[in-house]
Amino acid sequence: MSQGETLLVTGGAGYIGSHTLVELLAAGHAVLVLDNFSNSCAAVLDRVAELSGREVPWVEGDVRDTSLLQKVFAEQEQRGTPITAVLHFAALKAVGESVAEPLRYYDNNVAGTLSLLSVMQQFKVLRFVFSSSATVYGEPTALPYVEDHQIAPTNPYGHSKAMVEQLLRDLCQAREQFTAITLRYFNPIGAHPSGLLGEDPHDVPNNLFPFITKVAVGQLPALQIFGNDYETPDGTGVRDYIHVVDLAQGHLAALDYGRKQSGFHAFNLGTGRGTSVLELVAAFERVTGAAVPRQWAARRPGDIAAAWADPSLAREVLSWQARHTIDDMCADGWRWQSQHPDGYRTASPSAPVRGDPAT
Ligand SMILES: NC(=O)c1ccc[n+]([C@@H]2O[C@H](COP(=O)([O-])OP(=O)(O)OC[C@H]3O[C@@H](n4cnc5c(N)ncnc54)[C@H](O)[C@@H]3O)[C@@H](O)[C@H]2O)c1
Repeated sequence: MSQGETLLVTGGAGYIGSHTLVELLAAGHAVLVLDNFSNSCAAVLDRVAELSGREVPWVEGDVRDTSLLQKVFAEQEQRGTPITAVLHFAALKAVGESVAEPLRYYDNNVAGTLSLLSVMQQFKVLRFVFSSSATVYGEPTALPYVEDHQIAPTNPYGHSKAMVEQLLRDLCQAREQFTAITLRYFNPIGAHPSGLLGEDPHDVPNNLFPFITKVAVGQLPALQIFGNDYETPDGTGVRDYIHVVDLAQGHLAALDYGRKQSGFHAFNLGTGRGTSVLELVAAFERVTGAAVPRQWAARRPGDIAAAWADPSLAREVLSWQARHTIDDMCADGWRWQSQHPDGYRTASPSAPVRGDPAT
């Protein structure tokens, strides 16, 4: 693998972006993070620096700010370390919120990506790795989802991802040297095994796993399980949970592939295994010894019964596959949450190496 690229990582202070930074730095790349910290904080980047023993330069700013992006790309060129590829994590991601505030979602997720792509075009940066989602598939016509399953999202968040995918297809059609690798994530959970990085939702979590850990640590009284009458073996929803470190490593494989291949390519990043809510809760209690009181609640509108990936394309083409088990995800997620009940507002166990703002 060729080493030492300079990669722009938008949304790098977020949950998946921060774990991916660790893998990129370990592989010998230099990174520059652009984040507006709307759903994260700069302390995350100190943790990444601490873990990696490397500097993590960052710029506080918004991907919709085209003139700031131009400045960032130009400065990297002037330093002799031009950006050679972009990993684009920055987005809003709460499905319910997207239904209530669609314009905000389209503006942030679609207009933000347009702004980024236009500046990449101006600076002749030809490789793009995009954080898409299994949400683009919508109601399954067959399971597991394969990459050519119909694209039929059921909410504005999913539409914003599908729109960007279309935009990337069109761009690749128009510019034959351009490469867009779209990674359709399934359900990332868990945390870095060091316990230094993890998911840090600020409100009541929308997703199951952080809800479980917040209950286990005593910050929420009981886990609400939405629906017990789905057509699944135990009546609860089934999802394809993937360890966030496996997901992070998928980005390295995508970057590598994009170096050899132009055009638009979409890959499922999942394990290929479905786990029900009750199975996940049981695994969590067994692995951690922590209790998770629970109560039944009505189904949430728009939730589907079951979803899991066929990850074979990523295995064959990217030579990537998820390696961690559900037990690993529970153990690592709990290490983070129990050591950091207040997320990144909890003091670091050791003194961090500071990452420096780049501008
Ligand atoms: N977590 C999941 O379950 C999941 C599943 C599928 C896809 N995704 C996608 O993966 C990506 C990363 O998700 P995550 O879970 O790490 O979310 P996150 O909210 O933890 O990270 C997103 C980061 O982007 C930043 N950001 C948001 N809008 C921005 C903007 N306009 N300009 C600059 N920075 C901005 C936020 O401050 C945050 O640091 C997102 O694109 C999300 O849609 C996430």
